[in-house]
Amino acid sequence: MDLKNCVVMASGKMRQCAYDKLNNEVHLLGWQQGGRMPKEQFDAWLAEAEALFSTGNIRIDEKLLAKAPKLKVIAQASVGYDNIDIAACAARGIPVGNTPGVLVDAVADLAYGLIIDSARQIVKAHAHVKSGAWGERKPFGLTTDLAGKTLGIIGMGDIGSAIAKRAQASSMQVVYHNRHQRSDDAKLGVKYVSQDELLASADFVLLAVTLNPSTKHLINAETIAKMKQGVRIINISRGAVVDTEALCDALESGKVAYAAMDVTDPEPLPGEHRLLSLPNVTVTPHMASATTETRDAMALLTVDNILAGLADEPLPAEVKVK
Ligand code: DGY
Repeated sequence: MDLKNCVVMASGKMRQCAYDKLNNEVHLLGWQQGGRMPKEQFDAWLAEAEALFSTGNIRIDEKLLAKAPKLKVIAQASVGYDNIDIAACAARGIPVGNTPGVLVDAVADLAYGLIIDSARQIVKAHAHVKSGAWGERKPFGLTTDLAGKTLGIIGMGDIGSAIAKRAQASSMQVVYHNRHQRSDDAKLGVKYVSQDELLASADFVLLAVTLNPSTKHLINAETIAKMKQGVRIINISRGAVVDTEALCDALESGKVAYAAMDVTDPEPLPGEHRLLSLPNVTVTPHMASATTETRDAMALLTVDNILAGLADEPLPAEVKVK
């Protein structure tokens, strides 16, 4: 199908491979200089757009959709879509695409790195050496093993199971909690438990759930109180799954020994935030999927979602309306 006259807009700077491919196939309104697009420009493009390539930098809600009368498809270059009102899109008959699958290994690798860091404190140890403390023979202290410990994964989708495999390579036991028990958990060597059982038994609690009203502040003062003394928390899902102030209190009291997070609330996290004043925290800047290969794959899957939507075909990766 010739889509040359179809107008596609991008909400922000795209990976060059995605820009080139789209530019070849459609009439592309692309914002490649980076930074924020002026509002007038954004609204003018939106009024003409038949497809929207979202880089995840905007809220897609009724207010935005009302300014986009020609939209046939939206595709976002991320697996998470908590910034998109899926029901509002569905009510207008607009399918929404995302990018599951292609980022699983990259995200699982960073999560595994954060698990290891929360136990072995690699980032802190580097700072110790860099400060000259090692040179002055100041002790760094002891860290803790992964082997024999229990990792509790809340949200056992493709990413959760890829993390489980990595943790098993470090001889950890893995328990998980999901809305539904997986049919392949025996094959994966992981055990389904209730959320309370997980909180009570895990030495490491890893969050891999999607953010929605039922998971907002899932980790709060009450759920932290149910965890083991000295638990470690790793968050690679969305910052708002954790009540940040409750986590800070627990890190200060020692109830939580360490928190390692790729996502925070607020995000981006200001340098002077309370969380960063604590010694038992590692924060990375929401970069779990940020490898060249993975970001290219995410961008190209987003292009495929857009092209399918414009051609009235099923999207290769479509968000299901619940
Ligand atoms: C995602 O794809 O949702 C990751 O968090 C990267 O944005």
